[in-house]
Amino acid sequence: MSDHPSEIRREYLDRPLRRSALDTNAHGQFSTWLQEAIDCPCLDPTAFVLATTGNAGPDARVVLLKGHAGEQMVFYTDCSSAKGEQIKQSDEVCMVFHWRELDRQVRVQGRAERLDEGTEQEYFASRPLGSRKAAVASRQSQPVANREALERAVIEQEDDPVKPERWGGYAVVPHTFEFWQGRAGRLHDRFRYVRDGESWRITRLQP
Ligand SMILES: Cc1cc2nc3c(=O)[nH]c(=O)nc-3n(C[C@H](O)[C@H](O)[C@H](O)COP(=O)(O)O)c2cc1C
Repeated sequence: MSDHPSEIRREYLDRPLRRSALDTNAHGQFSTWLQEAIDCPCLDPTAFVLATTGNAGPDARVVLLKGHAGEQMVFYTDCSSAKGEQIKQSDEVCMVFHWRELDRQVRVQGRAERLDEGTEQEYFASRPLGSRKAAVASRQSQPVANREALERAVIEQEDDPVKPERWGGYAVVPHTFEFWQGRAGRLHDRFRYVRDGESWRITRLQP
């Protein structure tokens, strides 16, 4: 087989996603799929691509989901980073999970809002010391002269670093989800959930 990108393809396992098997609540469906990705086990099951749109256009990067409770999907970061600035410009974000071992993708659209200080403090305190020091020492997305400057900034940190105001998290409150299940012959199953008052409107989409 050629290793040219156009020649690289594989058949997906034929694992159907049926309308009758869907949870009526998008968050319930997401929880089931996330748990299946953890149990599988998929590598980095909580990793997702976070897309933002700032004044300079779209941008995207991988972050980790750290909480999913009620209607909120939570991640942590340096809020003065590029993504933090972009969220200030537009709080509408998109999240994409890809669980390749299960031939699954979930796409989530919603609004991001900064968590409260108490929740951020609690999570910050739960992180390993090295991660806390790095969070204080590194001003994410800013230029740095070299690796040594970065390492020196970490060494200079106190042994009980205090969470800076700029470091924290966001809760995304989704209004749309799409669950994609790869199927044989490229006839994949796709279901979109759109928030409709207290419930979710579910539509099957063509692959
Ligand atoms: C697997 C993986 C997990 C990551 N998790 C996080 C995370 O939870 N929070 C974070 O701020 N950056 C995380 N990053 C780094 C981001 O992709 C990105 O480089 C960083 O947040 C700066 O992005 P920005 O300049 O767009 O703000 C992760 C990267 C990878 C590859």
